[in-house]
Amino acid sequence: MISRSSMTPERDAAYRAALNAALATGQAVLAGGGSALDAVEATARVMEDNPLFNAGRGAALSDDGSATLDAAIMDGSTLKAGAVAGVTTTRHPISLARRVMEATRHVFLIGAGADVFAREQGLEQVPNSWFITARRWGILEEVLREDGRPIPPRPSGLTDEAPSVSVQVPVSHSPDEARFGTIGVVARDRAGNLAAATTTGGLTGERWGRVGDAPVIGAGTYADAGCAVSATGTGEYFLRLVIARMICVHAGEPGTSLQAAADRMIKGDLTRIGGDGGVIVMNDRGEAVFSLNTEGMYRGTVSSLSPARVMIYADEGGNVDGPVARAAAPH
Ligand code: GLY
Repeated sequence: MISRSSMTPERDAAYRAALNAALATGQAVLAGGGSALDAVEATARVMEDNPLFNAGRGAALSDDGSATLDAAIMDGSTLKAGAVAGVTTTRHPISLARRVMEATRHVFLIGAGADVFAREQGLEQVPNSWFITARRWGILEEVLREDGRPIPPRPSGLTDEAPSVSVQVPVSHSPDEARFGTIGVVARDRAGNLAAATTTGGLTGERWGRVGDAPVIGAGTYADAGCAVSATGTGEYFLRLVIARMICVHAGEPGTSLQAAADRMIKGDLTRIGGDGGVIVMNDRGEAVFSLNTEGMYRGTVSSLSPARVMIYADEGGNVDGPVARAAAPH
């Protein structure tokens, strides 16, 4: 998982800069009177374009060398939700998830059909190679080699460039990064409405159409009137425990703090069944908490009352009150 020993100073600084850029995006939306839904989508889009994170460009690659992308978004004020899985040509899967929520009667679209819908909606399309970076290709080769699985031919011309964010991307990587980087965002707007968004490339070397928790409403993503959650980690465990929704259920129990509700699922149930990962959680008062059972999780918070704070390692910082929080973490 994320550990100080596998992180160079340059990479640490790059992640913190990327987190700050993401927080600034969400904060600007909210400061301009935007909704929580607008804030989580805009923040996630910036991070989908940042090759440091496992979503959009820079996503973890499937065993055939392609990027297959999953995303979900949920509006806590209406309980409306949209999700996509196995998307291969839509530049911003989080925006596609929002279109599913707002322009269809459905919640969840998968595979080629989801990309067809994206085209019909006029969402930007890119070749699948657009998502593939040199760094992620190197990680895929390591994972497949370790597993004794065939390595697909390396595409020519791979780079690690970030096309639309001002963050430098170091080219070195550690094998641990096969498991890092799902993007999650939760936000509360001036009206007190909550929203959650999660977007990911899934697991490096995944096959057979594997889908994790990120796009599954209630497992990796959930928001209601009082609570918003985005999760990261080994999706299979989050699916089995329906973690995001369970945290909101526990948070609504009398005498249970937001932190206790999150810890009960992450440090309790998830840990007990051998799962790893973490969550970002926010309530309708704008209180933001994190819970993780790993050495680190890329995360940060900002609000109209407190400046941005970003954290990577488990022992860094605490929780804060405020209307926006986001994180990206293992996977
Ligand atoms: N948590 C992301 C995944 O398992 O795909």
